[in-house]
Amino acid sequence: MRKPLIAANWKMNKTVSESASLIKKLKKSLKNVKNREIVVCPPFASLSAVSKLLKNSEIGLGAQNMHFADEGAFTGEISPLMLKELNCEYVILGHSERRQHFKEDDDLINKKVIAALKNNLKPILCIGETLKQRKNNQTFNIIKNQLINSLKNISKNNILKVVIAYEPVWAIGTGVNATPKQAEEVHVFIRSLLSEKYDKKTAEETRVLYGGSVKPENIKDLMKEENIDGALVGGASLSAESFAKIVKY
Ligand code: 13P
Repeated sequence: MRKPLIAANWKMNKTVSESASLIKKLKKSLKNVKNREIVVCPPFASLSAVSKLLKNSEIGLGAQNMHFADEGAFTGEISPLMLKELNCEYVILGHSERRQHFKEDDDLINKKVIAALKNNLKPILCIGETLKQRKNNQTFNIIKNQLINSLKNISKNNILKVVIAYEPVWAIGTGVNATPKQAEEVHVFIRSLLSEKYDKKTAEETRVLYGGSVKPENIKDLMKEENIDGALVGGASLSAESFAKIVKY
């Protein structure tokens, strides 16, 4: 019912030529993969080149961030209209690295989610607790606040276009993934929040991805959990070989 989605977040990696070379390899190794949705999110500078290479391919395109305004005096920013013209289907919003290094908060992220949906872009909304918050038993509180505040004024029709990504900050880039049980526990909680805010059916249809040190070695066990609907992959998506293995778990 929920089609697995495996998305690659390249972060600030790969020049335009490196991006092109990775995409060419991925197109070869991911040919004929069935029952999966695959998305790559290269840096802005590579979007145009990657978009052309992905024409008529099964791999979808996403961006890693955007501004909420259609246009204007916002030096250094990228608008939803620009992403649409490059054939982006998805946009990652609220990644913990944006929250941590660029001081993005739930209100700003909410504006971006609304703007993405208005422009027919599907948000991949990231939420997750830090190690300190987990140790202080604040995980569920943090997840609830981030989710509810980022989804303010998002209708039932629109939530179905949103993908939630649970990315515990302590698991990102550390090599230590959340165990399937730890992830599943939070995914169940996220679905219960969606059920409360919308309804059970809507919650059942919304995809919740896991992100944080996903590798070819751990994807299979993560995907066995009932409420894990895919993965948002950082480091391991930078090589065609490991990303293809993850996609084909
Ligand atoms: P890693 O897979 O490198 O831990 O990164 C996860 C992530 O932040 C994806 O958005």
